Amino acid sequence: MRQKIVAGNWKMNTTLQEGIALAQEVEALIAGVNNGAKVIVCTPFIHLTEVKKVLKKAALGAQNCASEVSGAYTGEVSAAMVKSTGAEYVILGHSERRSYYHEDDAMLAKKTKLALANGLIPIFCIGELLSERESGKHFDVVKSQLEKGLFDLSEEDFKKIVLAYEPVWAIGTGKTASSAQAQEIHKFIRDTVAAKYGQAVADLIPILYGGSCKPSNAKELFENPDVDGGLIGGAALVASDFNGIITAF
Ligand code: PGA
Repeated sequence: MRQKIVAGNWKMNTTLQEGIALAQEVEALIAGVNNGAKVIVCTPFIHLTEVKKVLKKAALGAQNCASEVSGAYTGEVSAAMVKSTGAEYVILGHSERRSYYHEDDAMLAKKTKLALANGLIPIFCIGELLSERESGKHFDVVKSQLEKGLFDLSEEDFKKIVLAYEPVWAIGTGKTASSAQAQEIHKFIRDTVAAKYGQAVADLIPILYGGSCKPSNAKELFENPDVDGGLIGGAALVASDFNGIITAF
């Protein structure tokens, strides 16, 4: 059985105090939930240490890490620094990082290796733009993102990865991929992983859906055999909505 996961991506939201309060609210709501879903909150860097102190059930993640080990890289936060806060996960390759900060496949491959070398589990995001979907290129796009970002990893390392399929046209837009669209491409992603690392590895890898996932559509999305949970943006900022998604399993 693959791990079911609901990860919240807070993006650049909440002050430190608001973040601590949100984490406390989430913890209070999930205390009684026992459906086997792993809950992760991915906070801004500066929140990590303090949020860690209030987490009991949920695991902690960052939203990025540097592509270099350490040194003269003003403003960057290394994988080792993230790990030292008690974080266990790091989101890499989010479409906002790819588009606004020009993170390319080669850079993401470096970040992924550093995250793994420091004992962090990457939540590695892939997904196509609207124009790419409309021109039928979405399968090629996600395949290329997988190959260039991850397929250099050893099987042992690849087995630790969590994938997140996030169609860029669905992120923060209120427009969700249909359940059938999500299943179709998640299956394609799993088949692509199987072709490279074998079916047994592919069957182990959680593939999360992200993009306007909310309590009202989570159940239908999560019911698909190849959708193992969600990476949640906007709805992760409202504890009751986040919990509504967690309990959709
Ligand atoms: P959203 O964001 O849920 O607000 O669409 C998802 C994400 O970007 O991870």
